[in-house]
Amino acid sequence: MLTILRTFFGYLVRPQLYPELLRKIYKNIFDRGSAFKGKKEAENWCAKMAISQKEAILKITNSHFSLSTEFPKVLEEAKKMELNCPVKMGGAGAMDLIYGICEYTQAKNVLETGVAYGWSSLAALLSLQKREGILYSSDMPYLDRNNDKFVGCVVPDSLRKYWKLFRFADKESLPKIFTQQSHFDVAHYDSDKSYKGRIWAYKIIWDKISPKGFFISDDIGDNSAFIDWVQENKLNAVIVEFERKYIGIVQKI
Ligand SMILES: C[S@@+](CC[C@H](N)C(=O)[O-])C[C@H]1O[C@@H](n2cnc3c(N)ncnc32)[C@H](O)[C@@H]1O
Repeated sequence: MLTILRTFFGYLVRPQLYPELLRKIYKNIFDRGSAFKGKKEAENWCAKMAISQKEAILKITNSHFSLSTEFPKVLEEAKKMELNCPVKMGGAGAMDLIYGICEYTQAKNVLETGVAYGWSSLAALLSLQKREGILYSSDMPYLDRNNDKFVGCVVPDSLRKYWKLFRFADKESLPKIFTQQSHFDVAHYDSDKSYKGRIWAYKIIWDKISPKGFFISDDIGDNSAFIDWVQENKLNAVIVEFERKYIGIVQKI
């Protein structure tokens, strides 16, 4: 009950998130239960196809990428920033994979949803800085944690000139981002994990991926949105098992 009240108050003091608050109220009254739709089916499907992060990087790029080998000091500093952060947030994803795909595509424009500490942002930015590219990120804070000023805290100041962070819910951020950039070499989805949230975002993000570009989605075993989307659109996916979760990767032909 305390968390619900804290979350509600968190929305009330952030007018930029009122549209999301209205959607959440509607969802809680009329449309509950889409978060785990088809979870068992999704997990079984992923488990059958999954390979490791290392294998996926090799399969996709025909090469090896390791951030801890290439940027040991940056990672060390970033870990210190995470340790010193007073708020606990969602942990790091498959950073070598994000970095490797940005390097492979020589990405200039990358889109991501979901920042939290900023591990995935850091992975993309370490590649984008080499070409003076831009990362466009969408993120709203954890409303029960008041973490706004710590969002992206692992990203060093030296990389921030390559970063545009939109602090709204995806439904507001993505249209705003698309007025600034309409083609992305790589997109990483790691925000609203509900079935309907994914289906909405996958379609509009996919439309903005450049030919030969990549779409990566985290936590695809949560529900069957990713499978339903790839099957409906006849797409080939590479599935990665990473820390007991699944990541889906699709390349636009
Ligand atoms: C799992 S964390 C992201 C982790 C990050 N990608 C990383 O690798 O460090 C998810 C983030 O997405 C945000 N989020 C959740 N739903 C969202 C939505 N509908 N729109 C924008 N951000 C959202 C959460 O508040 C949180 O900051």
